[in-house]
Amino acid sequence: MSMTLDQIKDKLATYGQEHVLKYYEELDAEGKKALLAQIEATDMSILDACKNKEALTQKGEISPLAAMQIPEIEANRESFTATGIKAIQEGKVAAVLLAGGMGTRLGSDNPKGMYNVGLTRELYIFECLVNNMLDVVRQADAWFHLFVMTSDKNHEATVNFLTEHNFFGYKAEYVHFFQQEMAAATDYNGKIYLEEKGKLSTSPNGNGGWFVSLVNSGMLDVIKEAGIEWLNAFAVDNVLQRIADPCFIGATIQKECVVGAKVVKKNAPDEKVGVICLEDGRPSIVEYYELTEELMTAKDANGDPAYYFGVILNYLFNVEELELIWKKNLPLHIVEKKIPYLNEAGELVKPEEPNGYKFESLILDMIHQMSSCLPFEVAREREFAPIKNKTGIDSVESARALLQQNGVTL
Ligand code: UTP
Repeated sequence: MSMTLDQIKDKLATYGQEHVLKYYEELDAEGKKALLAQIEATDMSILDACKNKEALTQKGEISPLAAMQIPEIEANRESFTATGIKAIQEGKVAAVLLAGGMGTRLGSDNPKGMYNVGLTRELYIFECLVNNMLDVVRQADAWFHLFVMTSDKNHEATVNFLTEHNFFGYKAEYVHFFQQEMAAATDYNGKIYLEEKGKLSTSPNGNGGWFVSLVNSGMLDVIKEAGIEWLNAFAVDNVLQRIADPCFIGATIQKECVVGAKVVKKNAPDEKVGVICLEDGRPSIVEYYELTEELMTAKDANGDPAYYFGVILNYLFNVEELELIWKKNLPLHIVEKKIPYLNEAGELVKPEEPNGYKFESLILDMIHQMSSCLPFEVAREREFAPIKNKTGIDSVESARALLQQNGVTL
């Protein structure tokens, strides 16, 4: 640590965060050191952003971006698949599991991937994903690397769980872990909460930082050494997720796009998924809460709904292109969350309702940094079963039904 206590106090004063030293004098020497180091490492310049949240989500001019739809995909399936299989066999494709999220809506203390969706047997979310990967390993007769992103909050639990289960049959030397960065979490006035007397409340900094974290963790060397050219980043919570899908890989390569995005037809104009589009002539995604009535009902040149393809957090990124853009900042998103905190009496409270903000960057904003994008339609009943909640829409219940519909025994 290089900053002195006085310098730390100056930093806190600059950002109006002096309250985080409330219990400083109660801490032992080690606790004091750890708290000061955490304050030093925390980027506080982002905290003010919650005072003008609207300005953060300003969009440019939106126009439609045509998706490659299922009939076209079926007509070319053989050729796309052959191209994709070849890329996998040549070791050019790897997968990136984004598993650093907190899964607060599901409300389990364990990493989301440890959730058991089985009914008559154990079937964990991680296991569903590995099973889907093993389908491709068999089809290509080749292993591909898997990079698993965790956060400070769930790293140990994730690594232990997957190791104890022998990676559910995936080859251990093809699995790599790396950790994403954390960001401070605040109350509604932008004041950082404490989660312990000597620790600021933190929360993972969003799934948009995955490539930065991959680079910071030294994994780019592994990627370079292995000759990996494509990274398929995907969410932990879609149990029907097809990973390193050869047809999708082949289509993206043949169309000479630097990113492919799996999309589904929305089930209603106001479904809560981000839609793929062009923004100021470049590929982009408009979040559902930014979608105006006008865009929701707009038609394209064929008379079809113009913004009807929703992203499912399954993207194939070209590594060279990622290397060009990774240092550019992504927009900041401020999200209301339930944040455990110390109350006035210094007791830990785990709130039932959102009580403050966390600060995130999102992978969907990376699409706007890419020079070309292929939206690739998949059948939602076969590939989209996200688990966000316990019951209702996008829940354990709905995912179980979809798994069964796809022949998975629960
Ligand atoms: P969500 O947006 O659903 O967030 O993540 P979440 O934190 O998991 O869940 P809630 O909102 O608290 O209920 C979508 C994907 O992005 C990953 C998640 O693990 C999931 O695969 N993610 C999210 C990260 O890897 N890091 C983050 O900081 C946030």
